[in-house]
Amino acid sequence: MGYNVYVTRRLPQEALDMVRNACETVEINPEDRPLTRAELLDKVRARDGILSLLTDTIDEEVMRAAEGARGFANYAVGYNNIDVPKATELGLVITNTPGVLTEATADLAWTLLMATARRIAESDRFMRTGKFESWAPMLFLGADVTGRTLGLVGAGRIGSAVARRSRGFDMKVLYCDPIANEALEKELGARRVALDELLAAADFVSVHVPLNEQTHHLFGAEQFRRMKRTAIFVNTSRGPIHDETALVEALRSGEIAGAGLDVYEDEPAMKPGLADLDNTVLVPHIGSATIWTRTRMATMAAENLIAIVKGEKAPNCVNPEVYEKARGAKR
Ligand code: DGY
Repeated sequence: MGYNVYVTRRLPQEALDMVRNACETVEINPEDRPLTRAELLDKVRARDGILSLLTDTIDEEVMRAAEGARGFANYAVGYNNIDVPKATELGLVITNTPGVLTEATADLAWTLLMATARRIAESDRFMRTGKFESWAPMLFLGADVTGRTLGLVGAGRIGSAVARRSRGFDMKVLYCDPIANEALEKELGARRVALDELLAAADFVSVHVPLNEQTHHLFGAEQFRRMKRTAIFVNTSRGPIHDETALVEALRSGEIAGAGLDVYEDEPAMKPGLADLDNTVLVPHIGSATIWTRTRMATMAAENLIAIVKGEKAPNCVNPEVYEKARGAKR
């Protein structure tokens, strides 16, 4: 008890109740919008811990403003919004919410894949604007999915879940990952290949890698050029993994056939021209947006926050070295 924490955005009630039961002072951003930079810097002061979102940039300045805090519990599996090496240096624990959003995100990747292949958003707009006059042999012809090749860039938890769903569509699975996924190879006959080979062979390319220096703009003009002209690109991971200006150009010029996007390079903004393209299906970063998943993510973040402020080992710590450092400092 006696802990003082800040929650940067309203979360499912179950999680807020957990935090309130464990901490004496719990302040929650009352507005349904991200905090401004100035608000963030102000609100993290004099706290024992902070529950942050992927929309909060937690850099050195914020960490120093949060002097005295034990760490940040991020409400997301991705933590590219946090300067983790700096946090470790400053002795701050950082946690994320892995596992619970795997299936929901894989479902959304498939939703985008199918919707782009079968031109669902475009067809929906056509219906709503009263343009459907008669069945027609050539109306909204799309791409086949069954029997085609799925190319996964990243075959961790979410990539694997996307791969498993392809079984129902008799697809061939290629993947590109620095680490071999033997389970996937055994289970589905998936084949690990270099990125260029994947790009040349896949009918659907779906991205499931974290955003970091190595993956920033992993997809640029060159990569889109290497893809089949009939291929569809799906990104449910992080926007800056694709060069969105190059993607718009590739979609516009017909270098690739379509894109299903949940994430954007300058989120929440889209690069000019993207929204004008009919061969895209665009959704607002809703990969994990199911009631169960968002609730579980919230309770997981709450468990992490409570452990952080109590000085206990947080269940989903992404920088466990920080505990070693603290032990070393005590010796
Ligand atoms: C994450 O968790 O990283 C997703 O992008 C949002 O749920």
